[in-house]
Amino acid sequence: MGIPVKMPPFKTVFVTGGAGYIGSHTVLELVEAGYEVIAVDNFTNCVCGTEGQAASLKRVEEITGKKITFYQCDLLDKPRLAEIFKKHKIDCVIHFAAMKAVGESMILPLLYYKNNLIGTINLLEVMKENNCLQLLFSSSCTIYGNPDHLPINEKHSIGNVTNVYGRTKYIIEEMLVDLSKAEPEWNIISLRYFNPVGAHHSGRMGEDPTKAFTNIMPYIGSVAIGRKPYLTVFGDDYNTPDGTGVRDYIHVMDLASGHVAAMAKLAASHLKIKAYNLGTGRGVTVLELVRTFEKVTKTKVPVQMLPRREGDIESMFADATLACEELGWTAERSLETMCEDYWRWQIANPNGYRETDTADVAAKLAAIKESHGECSCQSTVNGVH
Ligand code: NAD
Ligand code: UD1
Repeated sequence: MGIPVKMPPFKTVFVTGGAGYIGSHTVLELVEAGYEVIAVDNFTNCVCGTEGQAASLKRVEEITGKKITFYQCDLLDKPRLAEIFKKHKIDCVIHFAAMKAVGESMILPLLYYKNNLIGTINLLEVMKENNCLQLLFSSSCTIYGNPDHLPINEKHSIGNVTNVYGRTKYIIEEMLVDLSKAEPEWNIISLRYFNPVGAHHSGRMGEDPTKAFTNIMPYIGSVAIGRKPYLTVFGDDYNTPDGTGVRDYIHVMDLASGHVAAMAKLAASHLKIKAYNLGTGRGVTVLELVRTFEKVTKTKVPVQMLPRREGDIESMFADATLACEELGWTAERSLETMCEDYWRWQIANPNGYRETDTADVAAKLAAIKESHGECSCQSTVNGVH
């Protein structure tokens, strides 16, 4: 999507956390762009399918008709990581693997620091041993902290982070800057994601975390499908158009195409290290998101107002001009498409990648279909609708 990306000289991409939400959608986009993918994951937050294969990546194979090489591997197991890396001639690495639950990170800080920091150091060392110095790193808008100005661009200060998870991302970005200063032959892009939502439009792939989730879209989905009675909205007294928090929601497939664009940039130029925002540039309130979801899915999402969530910020949305100018990338999909695609995935896969329907869920689904009709956008495989 965006300005067409010329196929770069990279051929084989090593993707950590490749079976996770953003990882699996990016693997799909990479395969469709002609790359060979070697993916690793330890299944901490994604579904292990049959014979130790990643359920999400099996769907990528089904959609693309291409084989994905996958290994179950924990980045903390450096010998195994090194062994896998050596088996292939790898041109570039995309590093998604991390633990990302903000609340959990406050309760288990050592686990988060160990997993995210040591995992990254192991990866960087193995890359260096194999003379692979091209890296895309999954960073987050959370490292900006409370914005001084909006929209927020890459020049905004970073580091004023209020949670452990966010601090691991900030520390890694700082570590990468230090590495680049000491060893300028590295070529690194940090991609600072805003709020990824949605699913692949086939309805065959989406978000299916195995840990408890806290982000808003899966909550809205749970209410719409009848698993929860209402959405709790955290705060309606912010200085925003309707009093609820503003975020920059970005379709996961736009995010995925951002990685393909960033990789083309790495292949074409030696940047040493550079950060890019990946967002739409549009701020959306919680209520606007809920109303849009209701409209396109023809469901009801009752809300209950609660006080502000601790640590939440009022408004955050991106200035993504730099990514447009230098990567030739812009997010293209609308809020409606994000909701529509999320719902198509949810309704077709009420248990995510876990195939079996409980009688309970099946009955609720049947009731939803009866009272609201099917989603206006019927599922299609491989594509166009
Ligand atoms: P995810 O949990 O779906 O994917 C991460 C994957 O990494 C999971 O499949 C998990 O099993 C794997 N993993 C974790 N630790 C590992 C380890 N030590 N070894 C091997 N595999 C490991 O999360 P996601 O939403 O796809 O996020 C991908 C990346 O993007 C993460 O780094 C996350 O911090 C970052 N990010 C996500 C968001 C978001 O809202 N989803 C926003 C900003 C940044
Ligand atoms: C979260 C993470 C952040 C991560 C970002 C991007 C926290 C504190 N931060 O931020 O580290 O980088 O996602 O994915 O979790 N909301 C409700 N009700 C709910 C859930 C959310 O009203 O049940 C509201 C929130 O107050 C916020 C908006 O919805 O205004 C989005 O929340 P969420 O999806 O959790 O993302 P962020 O808070 O932006």
